[in-house]
Amino acid sequence: MSDSALASFNDLSPAEDDFLGDVVSGLSSSPKTLPCKYFYNERGSKLFDQICELPEYYPTRTETALMRVKAPEMASAIGAEVLILEYGCGSIEKVRVLLDALDRPASYVAIDISREHLRVAAETLASDYPAIQVHAVCADFSQYFEVPSALPGKRNVAFFPGSTIGNFEPAEARAFLGRIARHVGPGGGLLIGADRKKDEAVLHAAYNDSAGVTAAFNLNLLSRVEEELDGNLNIKGFEHDAIYNGVYGRVEMYLVSLCNQEITIGGRSFSFGAGERIHTEYSHKYDIEEFQALGRAAGFEAKTVWSDPEDLFSVYYFETGSG
Ligand SMILES: C[S@@+](CC[C@H](N)C(=O)[O-])C[C@H]1O[C@@H](n2cnc3c(N)ncnc32)[C@H](O)[C@@H]1O
Repeated sequence: MSDSALASFNDLSPAEDDFLGDVVSGLSSSPKTLPCKYFYNERGSKLFDQICELPEYYPTRTETALMRVKAPEMASAIGAEVLILEYGCGSIEKVRVLLDALDRPASYVAIDISREHLRVAAETLASDYPAIQVHAVCADFSQYFEVPSALPGKRNVAFFPGSTIGNFEPAEARAFLGRIARHVGPGGGLLIGADRKKDEAVLHAAYNDSAGVTAAFNLNLLSRVEEELDGNLNIKGFEHDAIYNGVYGRVEMYLVSLCNQEITIGGRSFSFGAGERIHTEYSHKYDIEEFQALGRAAGFEAKTVWSDPEDLFSVYYFETGSG
């Protein structure tokens, strides 16, 4: 990495043992479940990028368009010479809109669990923005991890786009936002995108696209189990399903067993009945008041919110008190 413009790459990615332990514990529970963070190996991250381009998947293009229009207002709320910490940065595209609008941003820390995808995206950003000190941390942001200390910047601002916050259940989301509040410290900020509640048909189409890319993304979890944990399973024996649960205001994603079957992973067997589901992801949807209340409960003050003309998606700016 000697010719890389990246200031540092810190690999704190979860060990294979954690993956095996989480899979065994998730498939031993009732109902069966697998954590959505394991969607994101290199193939999973590429499939997610393809999802972002799908005609049915409105969140990415809506949030990006909103940011393009409102970037000057966002930049003026955030202020000059800041350190930006991005959680779950993926391909590091949206932050470019922000960096272009901000007054002399000083440093940027890209945080993601998908190691090789992160490395390539962070190196590309570092070479495109030579005036900004760019660091990358490969970590599971749901666990404690450290970011490089003493980085340039007058104050810390977290950036958490993509409605990834919706993957947490509300109590976990509040705890996670509380950790971000501590990460950014007194006088820090948080710019965060969250998907809105809306017509169920729009949500259903977004998570059950006609090209089958979301299905491939969901099934990639089983491919990872097969390849990385020496699993013995028939991936064709499962199919993708996503439903909107109006009681909890969330899309729920599942892998459904198409038959009675037994699979083995790491020497352990797991039985499935026909139609039995593995829960793989939640995507909670929030009205503006609900989401601002969540931010306040985590210790933030709700400063500003921007929404697209159809009220599909909102981007919020929160700040911690001056301490
Ligand atoms: C829904 S995608 C959003 C990507 C990008 N921020 C965007 O707005 O398009 C979620 C991103 O968070 C990352 N991610 C998911 N769970 C994570 C975890 N527990 N720790 C760190 N990164 C995680 C994924 O690798 C992925 O890049």
